[in-house]
Amino acid sequence: MPRLITLSRAARLVGVKRGALQKKIRAGELRTFEGELLLSDLLHAYPQTQVEDTTMLERVEQIMEQAVNKIVRPPDEAPDTHTQAARILALGQELARARHEARRYSGLVEALKKKFRELAPEDGTTRDEALSRLSDWFFQALEAGEPADEASEDIVAKEAFLRVMAAQIRILPSGHEFFIEGADSILEAGLRSGLALSYGCSSGNCGLCKAKVVSGQVKKICPHDYVLTETEKGLGYILTCSNTAVTDVVLEADEALGARDIPHQEIDIRIKKVERPDDRVVILHAKTPRTNRLRFLAGQYLSLEASGLPAMECSIASCPCDDMNLQFHLPAISGNPFIEHLLNNTRQNDIISIKGPRGEFVLNEESPRSLLFIACNAGFGPVKSLIEHAMALDIAEHIHVFWIATAGNSHYLGNLCRSWADALDNFHYTALATDTESGVEDLLPNIVADVGDLKTFDCYACVPGPSLEYIEASLRRYGLPAKQLHMEPVR
Ligand code: FES
Repeated sequence: MPRLITLSRAARLVGVKRGALQKKIRAGELRTFEGELLLSDLLHAYPQTQVEDTTMLERVEQIMEQAVNKIVRPPDEAPDTHTQAARILALGQELARARHEARRYSGLVEALKKKFRELAPEDGTTRDEALSRLSDWFFQALEAGEPADEASEDIVAKEAFLRVMAAQIRILPSGHEFFIEGADSILEAGLRSGLALSYGCSSGNCGLCKAKVVSGQVKKICPHDYVLTETEKGLGYILTCSNTAVTDVVLEADEALGARDIPHQEIDIRIKKVERPDDRVVILHAKTPRTNRLRFLAGQYLSLEASGLPAMECSIASCPCDDMNLQFHLPAISGNPFIEHLLNNTRQNDIISIKGPRGEFVLNEESPRSLLFIACNAGFGPVKSLIEHAMALDIAEHIHVFWIATAGNSHYLGNLCRSWADALDNFHYTALATDTESGVEDLLPNIVADVGDLKTFDCYACVPGPSLEYIEASLRRYGLPAKQLHMEPVR
């Protein structure tokens, strides 16, 4: 039987993005069968695929380490994780060889049945002669069997290996897919992959993460107070925050399709750290309670409130994939009561309140286009959130980031941008500087010249309010369609 695998698993197997496979499918270089690929086609398209890929082994070792530490403490005599990974790999290779042999022998049996019919004794042929001819044919056929194809065996082994290390979840009706590793809950793994799954408390109390298992096997990893009715249990409903996947699973689950699906929340959060990377920016790190995390979309903003002071609106600079650890980049406006309070009166673990989130400056996740981000000064905050979310989703073919610092400001997280550019082939970072905020407009020709045809991009720009209109009009003049342009003022 030809072996079919999902697009996500195929991308993992050969170490490319799903987008790269989709490109090959669109170009007719890869065939799909109801959304799945033939392993043999994949191997043909990526002949360089090697099972000895050390990155994979390292990743597997890391996953096993996490899983082992979270689920069970191994007895002293248990082999180390590297040995276990190597053994699973060896078993995968054995399985691939066994599959090949099974296919070969089943073909032989079919041919033998046919031969029996052909070799019915003819006139004058004795039973012994017929038997001898049959026996000659059989041994020749056995010798001539197709030799094992090492490359095919390796890719089958690697696929089996990945199947052991990570189960795949497919969400209906969206068709979104992600992998679940170690002892993560389905909810944790989904959020980490950039999906906006429905949830509330993350701890088995509210029932908002309820989802229906369509196929596959799940396992409860922590008790929950929320009570599912017998009917719900009978229909296969589970709480995604309290279950992990044992096998590949198909799940019917609610996802936020846009900002309107994110509920308003009011949460008291704890200050972890206040940083002052330069005179113009304050970075606030804060943590939500474990059982009351902030559900938001990358790029949204909220209100920060403390000690009866006027609320301050600020974009969230962290990724929704980590809903407990929040980050905010606040322009250090002199005389602003909230900023003064933050810098002069607060200590670690002090409480402040957040209300929100709001805003439509969010990623168009269905778009196949590359991403262009333009940030000015602390406008890097929401752009950082969008970049991290885009990376979690792994959807964009190219990500271009232009960070403009006006006089007195700095590229305060330039090292982070450079590390992304070093780690990812498709990530391009350019630091730009200008004397005044109006100078931002003068840099647009350089940006356009650098990226080429704007129509192939979705552009997200967070710039000072006064420049917003001009920059929007300029980008439109350079050919960027309105629906591909998303603008946000620096908050
Ligand atoms: S998120 Fe509240 S029960 Fe799962």
